[in-house]
Amino acid sequence: MGTESPVKWDNSLEREQVDISRSYRDTYRASVEDPEAFWLEAARAVDWTSAPTRALDDSAAPLYRWFPDGELNTCFNAVDRHVRDGRGDQPAVIYDSAVGGPSRTITYRELLAEVERFAGVLAAKGVYKGDRVVIYLPMIAEAVVAMLACARIGAIHSVVFGGFAAKELAIRIDDARPKLLVTATGGKEPSRYVEYLPLVERALAMASHPVSHVVVKRRPEIQAAEVVPAGPAKWHDWDEEMAAAEPQPPVPVKATDPLYILYTSGTTGVPKGVVRDNGGHAVAMTWSMNAIYDLQPGEVMFTGSDVGWVVGHSYIVYAPLLIGATTVLYEGKPVGTPDAGAFWRIIEQYGVKNLFTAPTAMRAIRREDPTAAELANYDVSSLVTVFLAGERLDPDTYEWTAAKLGVPVVDHWWQTETGWAICANPRGIEHLPIKPGSPSVPVPGYQVEIVDGSGEPMPAGEEGSIVIKLPMPPGTLQTLWGNDDHYHSSYLVHFPGYYLTGDAGYVDEDGYLFVMGRTDDVINVAGHRLSIGSIEAAIATHPEVAECAVVAVPDALKGQVPAGYVVLSAGSPIDEATLTKELVRIVREQVGALVSFHLVTIVPALPKTRSGKILRKTMRQIVAGEAYTVPATIEDASVLTSLQETVDRKAAGN
Ligand code: COA
Ligand code: AMP
Repeated sequence: MGTESPVKWDNSLEREQVDISRSYRDTYRASVEDPEAFWLEAARAVDWTSAPTRALDDSAAPLYRWFPDGELNTCFNAVDRHVRDGRGDQPAVIYDSAVGGPSRTITYRELLAEVERFAGVLAAKGVYKGDRVVIYLPMIAEAVVAMLACARIGAIHSVVFGGFAAKELAIRIDDARPKLLVTATGGKEPSRYVEYLPLVERALAMASHPVSHVVVKRRPEIQAAEVVPAGPAKWHDWDEEMAAAEPQPPVPVKATDPLYILYTSGTTGVPKGVVRDNGGHAVAMTWSMNAIYDLQPGEVMFTGSDVGWVVGHSYIVYAPLLIGATTVLYEGKPVGTPDAGAFWRIIEQYGVKNLFTAPTAMRAIRREDPTAAELANYDVSSLVTVFLAGERLDPDTYEWTAAKLGVPVVDHWWQTETGWAICANPRGIEHLPIKPGSPSVPVPGYQVEIVDGSGEPMPAGEEGSIVIKLPMPPGTLQTLWGNDDHYHSSYLVHFPGYYLTGDAGYVDEDGYLFVMGRTDDVINVAGHRLSIGSIEAAIATHPEVAECAVVAVPDALKGQVPAGYVVLSAGSPIDEATLTKELVRIVREQVGALVSFHLVTIVPALPKTRSGKILRKTMRQIVAGEAYTVPATIEDASVLTSLQETVDRKAAGN
């Protein structure tokens, strides 16, 4: 039974979905010509304790806030109201583990019971509205419960991907300064169990911020070595705490209050804490489910990602639950758990309508099963659309996926910062023609432009920086956690009035966007966004390394992987094979195994400008075997020649 809320929920605004009678063009025009009316209309699909009378607050431009006088609770919208509206017995979350279970289906009523109890656990530990909670969990249902429980009491969650190592966790703890951390005894990778507690213990010891409480979900399958906690944190057992907890009602928060912080990688090793609000997020998520994904309440969405990434936040957890759909939480891989039919099994077993994953997953399935023979073993007739994002969808992978599955394959482009698609083929509005290699057209609310280095618009077909005219629509980042200046300097100063996406690309004569890659030192490995700076910082800790540069090299499976070019300290006797082994270990320990760092080359020197900046673009071109011009600013052009020789020698296997 749910607890009675002391708050009177204002349902005076009837709930409405997207107006699908309008074409994409009309909908887009309405969104940019009168964003106030457009988003207030969309806001009607959310339950507010105090309905907003205004959409955009631009009083602190270029910092924008949405629905400044609205109040709501995101958890109430994602859980309670569906129980209230008769969906209590409908599956909310299907937790499917392909790495040892136990799988389970959680109805909305059961989800409510768990969430309100875990909210009670948080409250009992002194976590209140505005406090931060770090969630470092594998893909288990407790991750969803913990996120929603934070939202319920107005606490701000910050989920850290389980593949990150202790140091990365410590950096995030120091930035978010949480009162409490939620973790588990471990995660299950196909080849091994990853024990989390030693990582957490190490991270707490490295961090200077003292975390008061750690709540641990014990997974009976993972008999973790007992950690003897040092430091001030008190450790608690999830199950014991849940049994004793007092269920908590949802707390109304301002639409502009933060719902979560999600760290993402920038150019330097310092992660950026993207801040998402409650109101704009709820409106955007709800609207996008209809407009982009064409998913209705009661239908099933399977997003094959991880709750530690923005795709997981938005389309495993919040958006499907906000509309009363069913979401599949899959602990496993697209291949190897047990085979390349894993995704098809899930589609059949749960009647999945939309599959959303990264192109890498499709490349992995194709590599294992080029003819998609596994498909013959499953009935995937429930599948209507495949959505892909997180990295560039190469036309070859697009063609294979579309041909084998026989359904539309929709590429869409977005980032942690925006929280939802910037460009897409909005299936719920209009089925626009699909152009392989393009994530299609700007989503209503986003004004996308291509500019040159001085901010001048580029003609159709010519590549430049992709920027978005401010304000961006609801649901996009408000700022970086505790650091408006960093938000400004990272995104807003380059082209006043525009948000810098960090991606380069062009728009064709039909208005379709083509994203070509990052303009900064961010690498995208298997759809995972990582900072080149943090990989270099880890490599630089090796005592024999004098200097290093990491460049992204193309990879047939993961899109890109990092390759390290290392200058040894004078007189160092270490050979390349030994150095590689040691650096691989260091990067795994300091950043995480997900970096997939295996390529190390010893070079006599790194190419630099006269002011000492490493010429990364030229390095990338040499490594990729592309033509390059010697930059006029180069300090010593002979370094390029010797780099080229080393790369050629290595490619020839000498
Ligand atoms: N916790 C701990 N370790 C993790 C982890 C996690 N949550 N996720 C990945 N790792 C580890 C893996 O065990 C692996 O370690 P190993 O080098 O010891 O084998 C390493 O990080 C690299 O993992 P991964 O990127 O998963 O590579 P893989 O070779 O095991 O699998 C794919 C390749 C294509 C199957 C996999 O990358 C994949 O499923 N990609 C989908 C991408 C995706 O979902 N992106 C999200 C954005 S939408
Ligand atoms: P993340 O913040 O982890 O979601 O990563 C965002 C970055 O991934 C973008 O800035 C792009 O560089 C890349 N990306 C995401 N989706 C796409 C896509 N559909 N096509 C090309 N690149 C993409």
